[in-house]
Amino acid sequence: MSSHGPAQKMTARAIGPLKGVAEVPGDKSISHRALILGAMAVGETRISGLLEGQDVLDTAKAMAAFGAEVIQHGPGEWSVHGVGVGGFAEPEDVIDCGNSGTGVRLIMGTMATSNITATFTGDASLRSRPMGRITDPLALFGTQAVGRAGGRLPMTLVGAADPVPVDYLTPMASAQVKSAVLLAGLNAPGQTVVTERVATRDHTERMLRGFGAEVTTEVSEDGYRITLTGQPELSPQTITVPRDPSSAAFPVCAALIVPGSDVLVPNIGLNPTRAGLFATLQEMGADLTFENPREAGGEPVADLRARYSPDMTGIAVPTDRAASMIDEYPILSVVASFAKGQTVMAGVHELRVKESDRIDAMAVGLRACGVTVDETEDSFTVHGLGAGGVPGGATAEARLDHRIAMSFLICGMASQRPVSVDDAGPIVTSFPIFEALMKNLGASLSRDNG
Ligand code: S3P
Repeated sequence: MSSHGPAQKMTARAIGPLKGVAEVPGDKSISHRALILGAMAVGETRISGLLEGQDVLDTAKAMAAFGAEVIQHGPGEWSVHGVGVGGFAEPEDVIDCGNSGTGVRLIMGTMATSNITATFTGDASLRSRPMGRITDPLALFGTQAVGRAGGRLPMTLVGAADPVPVDYLTPMASAQVKSAVLLAGLNAPGQTVVTERVATRDHTERMLRGFGAEVTTEVSEDGYRITLTGQPELSPQTITVPRDPSSAAFPVCAALIVPGSDVLVPNIGLNPTRAGLFATLQEMGADLTFENPREAGGEPVADLRARYSPDMTGIAVPTDRAASMIDEYPILSVVASFAKGQTVMAGVHELRVKESDRIDAMAVGLRACGVTVDETEDSFTVHGLGAGGVPGGATAEARLDHRIAMSFLICGMASQRPVSVDDAGPIVTSFPIFEALMKNLGASLSRDNG
């Protein structure tokens, strides 16, 4: 999504309770990985429940540009006819990953150990994000990268013709970095090792095992040490993508702060490396229950039920939980505004290099809504106003960031006065049915520029 046309202002107003069933789309992280690993297998992978958000559609297009056959059969139903590990063809044109950091970083890793050259770009948000965190470890395999100052896109990668395996300690908690190294390791002979100090989402490791690769995880004194045996033959799989807990967070949090609400969000992926928000909400006193816990497609899932919770109190979110809820701090800061007391969110420097600087985006927008927010370089604290206490009456900047746009719209559903976002366009990257789904629960969302 290099550009998505004119800005689409959207306004949320408080009306009645939110009630009903919210069927959120497929998991974004797992959807990217299903397409990429499908492209690395020999033969046809079938995927159901794929997220058809713009980020994932851009990855699907990229896999076709590298030579895989990617076909949509129906809503969420896709197949990928893969070219095998090391089988990528050189793309004829620039790969445009739109808004997606996950897409571009995982694809760079995947092509980095093939003897081909590819140039990557994206929208204004993605072109401002650091890629050195990926190209540094890829250089150890023998990959060359030339980009703009500060390691920004557009960037050209020359894949390593004779890749060597790598042993890498990730300098920041990042599943994208870990995954890029593992995906590059697929076409390197011998064992590639990546160690991370804190456990980040492990969908790549799980899915690699599912496709037949040998991947082990051991706890060492440095943290989690993941070892991949290179040059496996990956066998095509049938993958059912669970629904995205990061998308579920929006109707769940809306239900907690809109009086009288009761919302069921079925079939949500609850991989422990992703579920930190829900534990945090429960500690704040949220009425949140997990019904029918089960396993689907190698991932734990359950149905989430959220009811209006007027007595939530702020907490200090444990810093060691940050990785498991890194995408959920924007919406947590909205819930914290409707809780009593302070919610301290520390150890979250990574939020400054997401689709936007999410600490700044939330702090500025919440202050405009009448909430006091303190920030440091790697933390922010929301001074909650209690149930019904947020004045609202502001227009927040979405900054090309889907989660910032959705967070402020949820804020407007429970604020005393409406809250607008200047551009709801980016929501299509991860949650294309957000507007329809929230309206179906009873929310008031309008594009009336009001
Ligand atoms: C993702 C990893 C996280 C997360 C992003 C998805 C992934 O990014 O914020 O939305 O699918 O691997 P980092 O690796 O930068 O933490």
